[in-house]
Amino acid sequence: MTDDVQISLADGVQTIRLNRAAKKNALTAAMYATMTDAIEQGDANPAVAAHVILGSGGVFSSGNDINDFLATAHGVSVPTHVLRFIRLLPRIAKPVIAGVDGPAVGIGTTLLFHCDLVYATPSAVFATPFLDLGLVPEAASSLLMPARMGYARAFEMLALGAPFPASRMVEAGLINAIVPASDLDAKVMEAAVALAAKPPEALKAARRLMRGDPSEIIKRTDAEAVTFAERLASPEAREAFQAFLEKRPPDFSKLKTSG
Ligand code: COA
Repeated sequence: MTDDVQISLADGVQTIRLNRAAKKNALTAAMYATMTDAIEQGDANPAVAAHVILGSGGVFSSGNDINDFLATAHGVSVPTHVLRFIRLLPRIAKPVIAGVDGPAVGIGTTLLFHCDLVYATPSAVFATPFLDLGLVPEAASSLLMPARMGYARAFEMLALGAPFPASRMVEAGLINAIVPASDLDAKVMEAAVALAAKPPEALKAARRLMRGDPSEIIKRTDAEAVTFAERLASPEAREAFQAFLEKRPPDFSKLKTSG
């Protein structure tokens, strides 16, 4: 458990609020664990009909904590807590509604492709700069982003690392609506409470039909994790992580390449 994620329950809606604004809601091991436990417990709790995910302090999330990435860069696998969260995403049984204000980076964006409804503010910015960090896409984003946004837009985000403003994410089909920051929480809650009032078994069945068989998504998640782990340990990734923490541009020119 960590205070960096706050969990609350009201009107049949479990809210998961990221609460580490000083570090732009970068996700630590404890935060992944708290989020994963909350979703698993909420799915098993008849008092919970829907999950809501929100940021705080004008930020949704800056993605995985880069200090954690650096600490595990010598390892040979993706850290267990990250993998547990990522493998849960396609298996979540109840609807997930997200509200995005400010930056949503890395998994801050890729987790949204597992949500059922996403609302954002005019200052929301979505970015998946995996390549710039020497990494590869995760959370089945290599499958879900091309499928949802079309290959051209997905490649622009995943390979070029181009940040997309909220307006482009509406066009891309990820976001349901852009609302003023002062209305975001209320809009998200309104949708979640409306879903919570639906006949639960019909909702579950409709959602299962619309989302289809998750096995292909889970398979992709696992395949990505193998390459992601190799990349985490690479000199390119280590240089990118160090550069971010030292607030300088990365210099890949001195790294040995295989030709
Ligand atoms: N991991 C660890 N620390 C992070 C972080 C991350 N993912 N994102 C932000 N922080 C920290 C910064 O190091 C800084 O810490 P400091 O105050 O001790 O120096 C603090 O949060 C504020 O970040 P800063 O970069 O100064 O804020 P900003 O408003 O200028 O930029 C972002 C916000 C989100 C655009 C920028 O922080 C960013 O790009 N973060 C990294 C995103 C990323 O690459 N994530 C991994 C994706 S796989």
